[in-house]
Amino acid sequence: MKKFRDMSIQERREYLERITGIEFGDLETDLERLNSVIENVVGRITLPVGVVFGNINGRDRIIFLSLEEPSVVAAANKAFKLSDGFVGSYSGSVMIGNIYIRGNAREILDRLNHIRDDLERESRDRLRKLEKYGGGFQGIDIHTISNTRGEFVRLDFRINVGDAMGANIINSFLEDISEYIKSKVDGKVLLRILSNLSIHRRVTVTAKWSERLREEVESRGMNYTEVLDDFLDVISIAHSDIYRKTTYNKGIMNGISSAALAYGQDWRAIEASIHTYSNYFQIPLTTFWREGNILYGKIDVPMAVGTVGGSVKSLSHPKVLMDISGVKDSGDLGIIMASVGLANNFGANFHLSTEGIQRGHMKLHARNIAISVGAQGEEIDRIVEEMIRANRFSYEFARELLGKIR
Ligand code: MEV
Repeated sequence: MKKFRDMSIQERREYLERITGIEFGDLETDLERLNSVIENVVGRITLPVGVVFGNINGRDRIIFLSLEEPSVVAAANKAFKLSDGFVGSYSGSVMIGNIYIRGNAREILDRLNHIRDDLERESRDRLRKLEKYGGGFQGIDIHTISNTRGEFVRLDFRINVGDAMGANIINSFLEDISEYIKSKVDGKVLLRILSNLSIHRRVTVTAKWSERLREEVESRGMNYTEVLDDFLDVISIAHSDIYRKTTYNKGIMNGISSAALAYGQDWRAIEASIHTYSNYFQIPLTTFWREGNILYGKIDVPMAVGTVGGSVKSLSHPKVLMDISGVKDSGDLGIIMASVGLANNFGANFHLSTEGIQRGHMKLHARNIAISVGAQGEEIDRIVEEMIRANRFSYEFARELLGKIR
């Protein structure tokens, strides 16, 4: 059987449809429907969707990424292929909704503590509909803030939103419960909004690389121990230098944000949350360590993703792609997305600490050109090799090479 990457687009679709029993259908939402998704719609734009195969929690997964950058899909595939598997867990879907009140902070705090039982009951009642999805009200924490403009009290409502991303549920609840608070507290309710810092909704994934990685390293004529040492030094630089850390985190987001796009998630919320979590709390998003010849990597990130409601309902592609990926719930999706983030992070740093990233990048570029001029099977590899050797990456040159081969 042909390798997946050597198949035509149609063959790839048919292969995935055959192994999952689910049809792609039309991934694009029609313009009339899009017209009601945002305002002033004038069209739509397109991005390619690529496939990554990975083993997560003992299950082979088909993962979709959508982005404009070559090499990201290939890097993630390679990282999964070289690994012994990824194991992930999800903390549960607890999000925070904030209400900010202006006034005498001490008095507001006393008053809120006095009515706390009632406020909790009122909150629980308003969120009762979430209980049938395993969610609901979890609790309230109260904090004070003071700045040059005055004193404020912040209420954190902890709410389990189940499989929804949760923004609409929480913002509606906050506007509703704030009316109750206004009637009980002497202060001005200034602000009612979900916090995208979803620290209680997190995913951790650990991956392991051993024999397959060693074979790959040695097949390229490198020393495994030296490669691991260099790799860990490269990682340590990202953990101690902000310039490298930013690019390192960007590499993690190559996987997470492009999966977010493919599965119709709010990638801005995910990015805001992950970057604040990493920078404000000074937590590296990923860590790597070595035990003998085994390399371990771990990612720990906030992950507010939804498998129901929002764009999953209003756009066509998220549901189809989630179905083909066999996504069970928001925790499962979060684990898939964090795993690709870790895979891309490993892939980027492995290449950076060995041959650099450009060689692989140009190889892929050459491959794409060879395929576009009609090369097939072994012709592709021959043309790619020749283009790299000659350092010429044009369509004309690829056509010329194909002519010579045939
Ligand atoms: C490029 O999109 C991503 C990298 O820069 C990530 C990294 O440097 O770790 C290769």
